[in-house]
Amino acid sequence: MEIKYYGHSCFEIVSNSNRILFDPFISPNDLAKNINVDEVECNYMLISHGHQDHVADAESIAKRCNPTIVSNFEIVSWFQEKGFEKVQPMNHGGNWKFDFGRVKYVNAVHSSVLPDGTYGGNPGGFIIEVGGKRIYYAGDTALHMDMKLIGEFDRPDIAILPIGDNFTMGIDDAIRASDFIQCDHVIGMHYDTFPYIKLKHEEAIAKFKAAGKNLTLMEIGSSIKY
Ligand code: NI
Ligand code: MN
Repeated sequence: MEIKYYGHSCFEIVSNSNRILFDPFISPNDLAKNINVDEVECNYMLISHGHQDHVADAESIAKRCNPTIVSNFEIVSWFQEKGFEKVQPMNHGGNWKFDFGRVKYVNAVHSSVLPDGTYGGNPGGFIIEVGGKRIYYAGDTALHMDMKLIGEFDRPDIAILPIGDNFTMGIDDAIRASDFIQCDHVIGMHYDTFPYIKLKHEEAIAKFKAAGKNLTLMEIGSSIKY
């Protein structure tokens, strides 16, 4: 299993023949200039919520790759109206077993509207079981108490958490989140892309280390093998 970073909140999990893409926002991201969005491949596309910085490239990639689009009911309906037929509508607390493994759509405390103003349902995150690992992809979220349920019942091996502050958790709440979910292996997302969410990398890594945790800030375009 491999996790690749395309900048902001866009990741790809590669496991055997499956390529699972999360929240594609590449072509408008100055920091991801070196990524050619036309070369990004996927057979699953998971979308946490409707904001532009999570769906900007979703339509063009989906047209080219024809992935199964997985999101909440409202966002999936928006894609269906555009003619996409391979979809999996979910809602909070629900699980679905895909050929790569189980996905659960979980709560996020944030907002969700699609770029054209369409209601985007309630925002979420995903717990994904793939390649022998359990991964929590939090989406855009504040720290919230439901994360304790994830710690009690799901115990992820890897957590992909927003850390850029202002629109989501910042460093200190991301550390508290990793306590709540009982996962010390954190990959950061949703930082540096915009002036509001500039992250002090060294301070973030040091604070996680002082709490006995590991924070990875991936280079855009890089991959980690597990
Ligand atoms: Ni958002
Ligand atoms: Mn966002």
